[in-house]
Amino acid sequence: CGIVGYVGPRQTSNRPLEVVMEGLRRLEYRGYDSAGVALVTGEGGGLVTAKKAGKLVNLIEELEAHPLPAATVAIGHTRWATHGAPNDVNAHPHVAGPIALIHNGIVENFASLKAELVAAGVEFVSETDTEVAAHLLARAYVEHGNLAVAMCAVARRLKGTFTLLAVHADAPHVVVGARHDSPLVVGIGEGENFLGSDVAAFIAHTREALELGQDQVVTITPEAVTVTDFDGVPAEARRFTVDWDAAAAEKGGFASFMDKEIHDQPQAVADTLLGRTDIAGRLVLDDLRIDESVLRSIDKIVVIACGTAAYAGHVAKYAIEHWCRIPVEVELAHEFRYRDPVVNSRTLVVAISQSGETMDTLMAVRHAREQGSKVLAICNTHGSTIPRESDAVLYTHAGPEIAVASTKAFLSQITAAYLLGLYLAQLRGNKFADEIAEILGQLRAMPDKIQQVLDRAESIRQTAREMVDTSSVLFLGRHVGFPVALEGALKLKELAYIHAEGFAAGELKHGPIALIEEGQAVFVIVPSPRGRDSLHSKVISNIQEIRARGARTLVIAEDGDTDVLPYADVVFYVPQCPTLLSPLLATVPLQIFACELATSRGLDVDQPRNLAKSVTVE
Ligand code: G6P
Repeated sequence: CGIVGYVGPRQTSNRPLEVVMEGLRRLEYRGYDSAGVALVTGEGGGLVTAKKAGKLVNLIEELEAHPLPAATVAIGHTRWATHGAPNDVNAHPHVAGPIALIHNGIVENFASLKAELVAAGVEFVSETDTEVAAHLLARAYVEHGNLAVAMCAVARRLKGTFTLLAVHADAPHVVVGARHDSPLVVGIGEGENFLGSDVAAFIAHTREALELGQDQVVTITPEAVTVTDFDGVPAEARRFTVDWDAAAAEKGGFASFMDKEIHDQPQAVADTLLGRTDIAGRLVLDDLRIDESVLRSIDKIVVIACGTAAYAGHVAKYAIEHWCRIPVEVELAHEFRYRDPVVNSRTLVVAISQSGETMDTLMAVRHAREQGSKVLAICNTHGSTIPRESDAVLYTHAGPEIAVASTKAFLSQITAAYLLGLYLAQLRGNKFADEIAEILGQLRAMPDKIQQVLDRAESIRQTAREMVDTSSVLFLGRHVGFPVALEGALKLKELAYIHAEGFAAGELKHGPIALIEEGQAVFVIVPSPRGRDSLHSKVISNIQEIRARGARTLVIAEDGDTDVLPYADVVFYVPQCPTLLSPLLATVPLQIFACELATSRGLDVDQPRNLAKSVTVE
C-alpha cells in the first residue's frame, strides 16, 4: 500500500488535498485496489473522508463530483488488498468517531482485538484488520487526550506489520504516524511537513527527509517533527537528502512509465557504474560496514531476493563464481527464511531489492543476520528499510522506478552485482588489476550497446503486435541466458497475462519439449559464438529440436551470428559483448516484446492486475 500525510500552514486551503493526491499518484504503483483520503477542515474541527474502490482515477472523479472543503491536514492511502475485498467500504481511511486512520501491513492479532471491541459494543462496518486499529485509537484517545500518546498505546497492542497514519477532528495541525516493519519516511518542508511510504510521495515538494527507525511514532505539525519510541521516549531519526529529482518520476513524453523506464536503461546502467573507482582505480562500494578481512574470509555467498530481483541474483551467480571462485547460491527470500538455511559468519548474504521494502526479503535479511552472516544490500531506494538493516549497501542508481513490472532496476541490479563480483575479486586477489580494469571497460561500453538495442526495437514491436492473440510463449536460455529466459517469461505473464514459461535450454529434452506443437512460439536466447565451451552449438541444436517439432522460433542472437538463420523464424540481433555481460542486452528485446504485446491487448502496462510494486506483507 501507499501512504501519504501532509500538514500545512495555519490558513485553510486546498493544498493538503492537492499534496496528498499528488503523492498518491506517485505511490499508486504500491497498490491500486482502492484509494482514499481524510481531511481535517481547520479550526473548529471537522473530519471528512472520500474513498473509492479501484484505481486512483475513481477517487479523482469522486472528488470532482463531490468536492471536499479546504483543510489544514490530510492523509491518503492507495491499497493493495490483504484483509477484505477491494471495495469502497474496505478502502482506507477507516473512521472511528473523530479519528480517521490509514494502514499499510497486516494486523495479525486483529481477530482477538476485534472480539474484544465487539464485546465492548463497538460496531464494525468493514472486513478489514485496519478498522480494529482505528477503534483502538479512538478509545485510547479518549483515555489519553493526546493523539501521539494514544498511537503509542495502540502500537504496543498490535502484532504483525504496520505503518499507521491518523488524524483527529479536534487536531487540525497534527498527523501522527507509527511504523513497525513497514515503511514510513518524513519529508521536511518549510512551514509544512510530509509523511510517505517512500520519498516519491513528496519529492515534488522537498528533498530533505528523515529516515524513521523501527518501532517509532512520529508527530508532524507545520513547524515540527517529533519522534519517539512506542513508550513515548524521544528517539533519533537520521536526516538525509533525496538525490532523485521529481522530473525523473514523470513519463517524459512516453506512453507509459514502463516504456520510459525501458528507455532509461542506458542511463540507469551508466549511473550505476559512475564513481565506483577511487583515485588508484580500485573499486569502492557506497556504504560498507563490513570489515574487509571478513569479506576476504567468506566461503559462500547466498543471494536472497524476490521476483525480478531474484533473476538478477541468478546472473550474479554466474559472474561472481567465475570471477571470484566463491560458491554462490541464489534463493527466493521467502523460501530461504523458512527452511533453516545453513549460513554462518563465513557466509555473505546479498539481498537484492529495488524498493528496499519487500517484506519477504527483509525477513530473510533479519534471519541471516541472526545466524551471524553479514548482509550486503543491492538496493535502489535511499531511506528504505533493507539497506538500513544491512551491514553494507551498494546502491543502484536507476532513479525512481514507477511501472510495477521491473525493467531498469533489473539491469541496474545486474550491473551492481558485476561491481560486487569485481570488488570481491579485487579484494581477495582472484584477479589482477589490469584484468579488472578490462572488464570494467567492457561494462562501461554496455550503456551504448543497450541504446543500440533500443534503436533497433521496431522489429520486435512489430512481432509483438502480430502475436497479439498468442496464448502461450516459451523462453529458452542457457548459462546467463537462462535467467534472461525466466525474466522474459515473467514480464509476459505480469504484463500481458499470457501463459509463459522460461526453461534452461538443456532441460528441454527432459520434459518441456512435450509442450512443443505446431506453431508454439519459443524465444531462444543464443549465446555468443565467440564464447568458449561450445555453448553456442548446443543451443543451436536445441533450436533445431524444437523447430523440427513445429515451433515458431524467435531468436535473440549476437550481431554476425549467421548460424542461427536457417532455424529462426525471426531473429533479433543485439551487439556483441562478453557472454557474462550479455543479459544487459538480451533482456531488453524481451521487455519491449512484453510491453508492446500487452499494450496491443489494451492492457495497462504500468499497473497490471493483482500486482503491487513493493509487497510489504509476507
Ligand atoms: C514485486 C514486484 C516485482 C519485484 C518484486 C521484488 O513482486 O511486482 O516487480 O521484482 O516485488 O521487489 P523488490 O523491490 O524487492 O526488488
